[in-house]
Amino acid sequence: MRVETSKAGPDDLERLIDIFSDPDLKTSSEEAQWFVRCYLEYHHVIVGRVDGEIQGACFWRVEGERYCGLGWIENIWVEERYRRLGLAEKLLRRSAEDIRTFYEENGFKARKAILTTQVDRAAARRLYEKVGFRCAAELEDLYGPGEPDLLYVLNL
Ligand SMILES: CC(C)(COP(=O)(O)OP(=O)(O)OC[C@H]1O[C@@H](n2cnc3c(N)ncnc32)[C@H](O)[C@@H]1OP(=O)(O)O)[C@@H](O)C(=O)NCCC(=O)NCCS
Repeated sequence: MRVETSKAGPDDLERLIDIFSDPDLKTSSEEAQWFVRCYLEYHHVIVGRVDGEIQGACFWRVEGERYCGLGWIENIWVEERYRRLGLAEKLLRRSAEDIRTFYEENGFKARKAILTTQVDRAAARRLYEKVGFRCAAELEDLYGPGEPDLLYVLNL
């Protein structure tokens, strides 16, 4: 199996909308469309391919002013049947590299990658910790009432 990552382009739009329409991720396909279009047009998307087909993706954006050097990782997802192949780890490391490159090309220094996740997303938390993220805070009711979210930070 060939597992590789690359930057997403306009041709990847439909496949990304398809992936992000999964009910575990978005409440509706309209929401998925808005999210994917927004990130492809204004932000950054890294896709993961298995034997040439997109089976996962990681979305990131600049947080705050560019001189702050922060990259906010908004979402990472791997299709269920392609999990445990190391695809998410590749996507996350590649996204961290993409944040570094973005800041370097813009004359700034990348400082930190940040993300949040839910307490009960055990696989995601293990993944983040393996890549070097540290849990920095617990935030109540951030994205809505319910379980608290965890804020993870990686020094770049
Ligand atoms: C979390 C997720 C992205 C991991 O994708 P993946 O491609 O299967 O992960 P990888 O194969 O790259 O695993 C890398 C590391 O993550 C951890 N990990 C991944 N899945 C795990 C699981 N089910 N249980 C425990 N640890 C796990 C392990 O430390 C693993 O390293 P190892 O294989 O050396 O043990 C995937 O399970 C997913 O898409 N989940 C649903 C969406 C989600 O929760 N996204 C995060 C939103 S905040």
